[in-house]
Amino acid sequence: MSLLLNGKPVASKIKAYLKEQFQALETPAKMRLIQVKGDPASDFYVQNIIRNGKKLGAVVELIELSEDATTEELLKIIHDANDDPSVHGIMVQEPLPKHIDVLKVNSTIDPYKDVDSLNPVNLGHIMLGINSLTPATPTAVYATLRYYQIPTQGEHIVIVGRSAVVGKPLASMLLWKTPHTDASVTVLHSRSKQLKELARQADILVSAVGRAGFITEDMIGENTVVIDVGINEQKDADGKVTFVGDVDFNACVGKALAITPVPGGIGTVTTAIMFLNLLRAMKGIQKDNKTIDDFLTFIFVGNYDE
Ligand SMILES: NC(=O)c1ccc[n+]([C@@H]2O[C@H](COP(=O)([O-])OP(=O)(O)OC[C@H]3O[C@@H](n4cnc5c(N)ncnc54)[C@H](OP(=O)(O)O)[C@@H]3O)[C@@H](O)[C@H]2O)c1
Repeated sequence: MSLLLNGKPVASKIKAYLKEQFQALETPAKMRLIQVKGDPASDFYVQNIIRNGKKLGAVVELIELSEDATTEELLKIIHDANDDPSVHGIMVQEPLPKHIDVLKVNSTIDPYKDVDSLNPVNLGHIMLGINSLTPATPTAVYATLRYYQIPTQGEHIVIVGRSAVVGKPLASMLLWKTPHTDASVTVLHSRSKQLKELARQADILVSAVGRAGFITEDMIGENTVVIDVGINEQKDADGKVTFVGDVDFNACVGKALAITPVPGGIGTVTTAIMFLNLLRAMKGIQKDNKTIDDFLTFIFVGNYDE
């Protein structure tokens, strides 16, 4: 039976630290969360962020815009949040309606308040290994690997999916020359030839495709660590909605060395990371000068120099 890499203990550890930190602050940490209405699944994620903020002792201010809001309206709200010193973190909930210029939106968020690290400046920092806020989902993968002490140095990590929110920044992070990264990384996508053969060569296989059952049992070996980033909505015959990952979990759970469940895996850790980014933003990345690795070492191991 595979080792189950549950997200809950990882998230709990990070949240316990955050709770202590947020409660010790004289001025509360504040995140401005901006949502353009129209995507029902986003309502769930937004409410989840607000609920977590309350539990952790951080303020989440929600600004809702109607579905027909323009890029300019959105940019004005981001500029206001950038200029407001009481706002430490900014997040624009995606997906945005098709008429919105997402690149313009992400580029307008102050990189030092960018809690999901979508500004191209932050993505560039990540690629170059410069200390910055790091994107929530790739960092959740990184934190999960660290928590379960899965070695990455010199290991072959295959990522299926090359989006700007998951695949590409995760590949950049795993290439950092640090003890908990330093991997050999292969990134696959819809045009990749011999995808199954390449996936089978992975020591760690990460799937961020967005298709239920995409990773089948014949794509993994007995020594593969399987990280499932996918969150896919499925309706049963009665119309009841459930969420599943990209991995055929039932077929792979008996074979892989270790595997993350969905739900209860990477998604669970992602929200905790977003609030860790809020704390990092509040402390000031330049002033504080601690990396995400330093924070995770402190949270998981108890000191800054492991
Ligand atoms: N756990 C979390 O916190 C979290 C956060 C964000 C996203 N997600 C989930 O992760 C999944 C991916 O999200 P995303 O935003 O990265 O999605 P995305 O932007 O749609 O990207 C999907 C990637 O998968 C590739 N792909 C699609 N079909 C493929 C195929 N048949 N063979 C090989 N590659 C294929 C695409 O290739 P091309 O580039 O060639 O099109 C693309 O690179 C979704 O299920 C999403 O809900 C989870």
